[in-house]
Amino acid sequence: MPLTLLAPAPGRWLWTCRATFEGHLYEELAWQGAEPRLLGPGLVESDEAKTPPVFARIGFPVRQVASSVAELRLPSQAFHLQVWAPDTELGGRLSSLAETIASAARLPADVLADPQSALKHGALLCQVCLVDERCWAVGEVRARDALSLAPGGRHRMRREREAPSRAAMKLEEALDWLGVSPGKGEDCVDLGAAPGGWTQRLVVRGAKVLAVDPANLTPELERHPKVEHIKASAFAFEPDEPVEWLFCDMAWRPLEVAQLLGKWGRRRMATVLVANFKLPMNDKNAMLWRIRHVLAEGNWEQVKIRQLYHDRDEVTVTAVARK
Ligand SMILES: C[S@@+](CC[C@H](N)C(=O)[O-])C[C@H]1O[C@@H](n2cnc3c(N)ncnc32)[C@H](O)[C@@H]1O
Repeated sequence: MPLTLLAPAPGRWLWTCRATFEGHLYEELAWQGAEPRLLGPGLVESDEAKTPPVFARIGFPVRQVASSVAELRLPSQAFHLQVWAPDTELGGRLSSLAETIASAARLPADVLADPQSALKHGALLCQVCLVDERCWAVGEVRARDALSLAPGGRHRMRREREAPSRAAMKLEEALDWLGVSPGKGEDCVDLGAAPGGWTQRLVVRGAKVLAVDPANLTPELERHPKVEHIKASAFAFEPDEPVEWLFCDMAWRPLEVAQLLGKWGRRRMATVLVANFKLPMNDKNAMLWRIRHVLAEGNWEQVKIRQLYHDRDEVTVTAVARK
């Protein structure tokens, strides 16, 4: 990590990630040949990436480095403005400055009020990232191409009062990212379901859930008419009939989990996959490479992997079974 923060170079892409994951983001960009440079906590710059980086929360090409509101050059096309600081200790201290800049910026009358409107109208998200008090990276990305619609990729999901675990927010963010959710009456299998955060979010949508975990679900879920608890290891379970949705949040070795999910894909036991992989090892990119390989061998396609905002030392994977 550089001792002082480095200013991003106009013309290059600026990426932000979860604090302490800069090295993993740097490495995956280097593996793509994108010539990364570590700028400071939560910030890496590079050439344009060939594939969206797993560890980036958001990225944009830097058009300008400004240090005052008067200097800010805003886009001439329709846009929504997002002023943010990285999700780090320094970034936390800059959050009130971000608010001041956002309210002082001279915005056109037709500026879009929220990122969803920018998405709907094919418009831009204008990004102002506060690297420090006097170094603001400015650029834009089309809303439909953005890694996240949330400022700085901090897509906070609300924890519902009845949610049995924090994990429920990971599922909500994953489904939002995927863009579809299980509907009423659809069959889901939830591997590693206890205490039931994911299962609970699925039954709220009207889905039926086979929850597989040797540990207990909350009493409400144990007696829920749409939940069947299989109190066993996921490695010893197979459904009687193929299901539409396979969810997996097992706290287990990632390669073995990938192999299990690969078996589900090969045997066509599910159509859509949403999984969370725990990555406690240092060599995360090498493990992700193996996971991708095992899932592809296991008939899963459109495999997308991202460390979402609610993911800690873990990543979210979505995929669809090859027809
Ligand atoms: C992070 S927790 C899951 C949280 C859950 N998704 C929720 O929303 O409440 C991980 C779970 O994996 C389960 N687990 C670990 N090994 C397993 C196995 N072989 N089969 C099934 N579940 C397993 C653990 O019992 C634990 O309940």
